[in-house]
Amino acid sequence: MKNRLDILGIETSCDETAAAVVRRMPDGTGKILSDVVLSQLDLHTAFGGVVPELAARAHVSSLDHLIEQALETSGVALRDIDAIAVTSGPGLIGGLMVGLMTAKAIAMASDKPLYGVNHLEGHALTARLTDGLEFPYLLLLVSGGHTQIVLVENVDRYERWATTIDDALGEAFDKTAKLLGLDYPGGPAVERAALKGVPDRFRLPVPMRRDPRLLFSFSGLKTAVRQTAQQQTPLSEQTIADLCLAFQASVTRSLGNRIAMALERFAARFPGHDSPTLVVAGGVAANQAIRATLLEQTRVAGFRFVAPPLNLCTDNAAMIAWVGAERMALGLPSSPLDLAPRSRWPLDLDATAAIGHGKRGAKA
Ligand code: KG4
Ligand code: ZN
Repeated sequence: MKNRLDILGIETSCDETAAAVVRRMPDGTGKILSDVVLSQLDLHTAFGGVVPELAARAHVSSLDHLIEQALETSGVALRDIDAIAVTSGPGLIGGLMVGLMTAKAIAMASDKPLYGVNHLEGHALTARLTDGLEFPYLLLLVSGGHTQIVLVENVDRYERWATTIDDALGEAFDKTAKLLGLDYPGGPAVERAALKGVPDRFRLPVPMRRDPRLLFSFSGLKTAVRQTAQQQTPLSEQTIADLCLAFQASVTRSLGNRIAMALERFAARFPGHDSPTLVVAGGVAANQAIRATLLEQTRVAGFRFVAPPLNLCTDNAAMIAWVGAERMALGLPSSPLDLAPRSRWPLDLDATAAIGHGKRGAKA
C-alpha cells in the first residue's frame, strides 16, 4: 500500500451537497486538501424544513460540478486518488441515491475501491482528523436529526449511551422558533432572540432532570413553550426573547445534567484514562450557551473538551473521506458496487430503540 492515502469524499444525505479530498499520512494524521459544501438552505427556507424531493433534485444538479471543484482545489488528479468514500446512510433516500450512484460510477470508471460510509461515523471520527484524538472518547452529537451520546471505542466500535425519546435537539429549536414566528433554521434565530431576553421571567421545565436513565427528551419542553406563548398573546418581541432565553436555559440545564452522568460513567469505565475527552458535533454545537455549559461540565469533571471548527461539526464531505481513509488504512473491506443506500442505520447495532423514539430520520 502507498504510505499515504488520498480519498475523495461525497456527502448528499440531507440538504448539503458536499465533496472533499482528504489525505491520511502514515502516522495517522490527516489533512483536508479540499472541502466544498453547497448548502440548500435557501431552497428549503420557504417550506420551514427540508423537502426531500427538492433536496434530491438539487444534489443531482450540483454534485458533478462540486466533485470537479474538490479535485481541482486539492491538486490531486482522479487517477492518483486511492478510494472513493460516499455516505450510504442514514439520511434521505433520494439524496443518498444521488451520491451513491455518482460514487459508484467514478469508482467503476477509474477502477478505485468504493467505501460506503455511515454518516454518523463521519461525525464520530472527525475529532481524529482535526485533533488527532486517540480512542476511546465520548461524543455528543446534537443536530437536526440526532441527539446522542456515543462512546467511540474504535473505528467500527461504537456504543450508544444516550438518545432522545422524542424530538432531536435541533428539531426542538426549529419547532420552538416556528411556534414563536421566528425564521428557519430555528437554532440561530432562537439564540439571537435569547440574547435580548430577560432572565427568569419564565420558568420552563428542565427535561429529564434527576431521571436516572441516560436519555433525552425535548417535546414536553416545546409544549410548555407553546402553552406559555398562548397565555401571552399577542406576543411582543420582548416576550419572544424572554421565552427563547427560558427555552435555551432549560435545554442547557438538561444537557448539562445528562452530560455530567455520561462523564461519570466514562470515568468509571476507563479509570486509568490519562486524557478523558468529550467531543461535540452537529449544528446545535454552534450555540454559545450550550458550548459554555459543556466547557464548564467537562472542566469540573476533569475532561478535555474538543469542539471541531463549525464547518466540520455540520455536514461536510471531509468527514466522509476521513472515514474512508481510516477504514482503508486498517484494511477493512471496501463496499461492493451493488451497495444499497440505507435511510436508517444506527452506529451501534446493539442499541435498542428508545421508547417513543420519534426522530425525524431525515437529518443526521
Ligand atoms: O448538523 P446540522 O447542520 O444539520 C443536520 O441536522 O444534519 O444541524 C442543523 C440543526 C438545525 O436544527 C439548527 O436549528 C441547529 O442545528 N442549529 C442550532 C444553532 N445553529 C444551528 N441550534 C441552536 N443554536 C444554534 N446557534
Ligand atoms: Zn450530520
